[in-house]
Amino acid sequence: MQTYSRVADLRQALQKARSQGEKIAFVPTMGNLHDGHLALMRAARSYASTVVASIFVNRLQFGPGEDFERYPRTLAEDREKLASVGVHALFAPDEGEFYPEPQSYFVDPPELQHLLEGEFRPGHFRGVATVVLKLFNAVQPDVAVFGKKDYQQLMLIRAMTRQLMLPIEIIGFDTVRAEDGLALSSRNAYLSAAERAEAPRLFCALCELREAILCNGTQNIEELAAAARKNLDRNGWKTDYLSVRQQSDLRVLSQSSGQQKLVIVAAARLGSTRLIDNLEI
Ligand code: PAF
Repeated sequence: MQTYSRVADLRQALQKARSQGEKIAFVPTMGNLHDGHLALMRAARSYASTVVASIFVNRLQFGPGEDFERYPRTLAEDREKLASVGVHALFAPDEGEFYPEPQSYFVDPPELQHLLEGEFRPGHFRGVATVVLKLFNAVQPDVAVFGKKDYQQLMLIRAMTRQLMLPIEIIGFDTVRAEDGLALSSRNAYLSAAERAEAPRLFCALCELREAILCNGTQNIEELAAAARKNLDRNGWKTDYLSVRQQSDLRVLSQSSGQQKLVIVAAARLGSTRLIDNLEI
């Protein structure tokens, strides 16, 4: 596996691959890779002959007081993991290469950016959309693979790709979980042993709520969600949101919306660690 830190070198190498008829699949990450990321890499291999991963901790998507500084940076281990699952090229620029001048042009996503995650992390999705568009421009992939754990992110990237007419197929890949149900995330590394033991309760709450909705229908959806939030908060969590939304636009189910596909989305803090998860119904 080749590692490229400069955009020009990456472009040259990928240009050569393309001229030899290779199709390119891309998996962007912020590093500190776990089995969930590696599953995305393996999935990417089934879509194209060349798989490119990126590792870049993107300052633009972190708010003041968030974990940009302490976000785990583990490039040497990450490279070994990527090579072990057959990734062909890693793009790992430093900040000076990726943002050679202060970024003053942004991708400003629509209203969806202000819901849910956006309410608690203002500006987050503007930072994500901007970096993803830049990464797409650097790599120019045919296919890009994203985890469904970041449900809202995936929706925004799909819409951006469609509206800006980027010739890239976006693939959403199912969340990979530990045996006890906890969604794999780089931020799980922040959990103490006691918090790690408590952490699966988040996914449990989503599963129980889904069960209740499947049994009782959607009439008292708000009370059911409120009970799930209370249950988490009683067990030491601080729930930012736990809400049942329409899969199509992540808005609350309205009377007039008829038979909509639903998704339960949640973000909650355990100590200083903020975890997110979701479950489609
Ligand atoms: O999901 C992530 O790891 C990041 O938001 C992404 C897509 C790599 C952009 O920095």
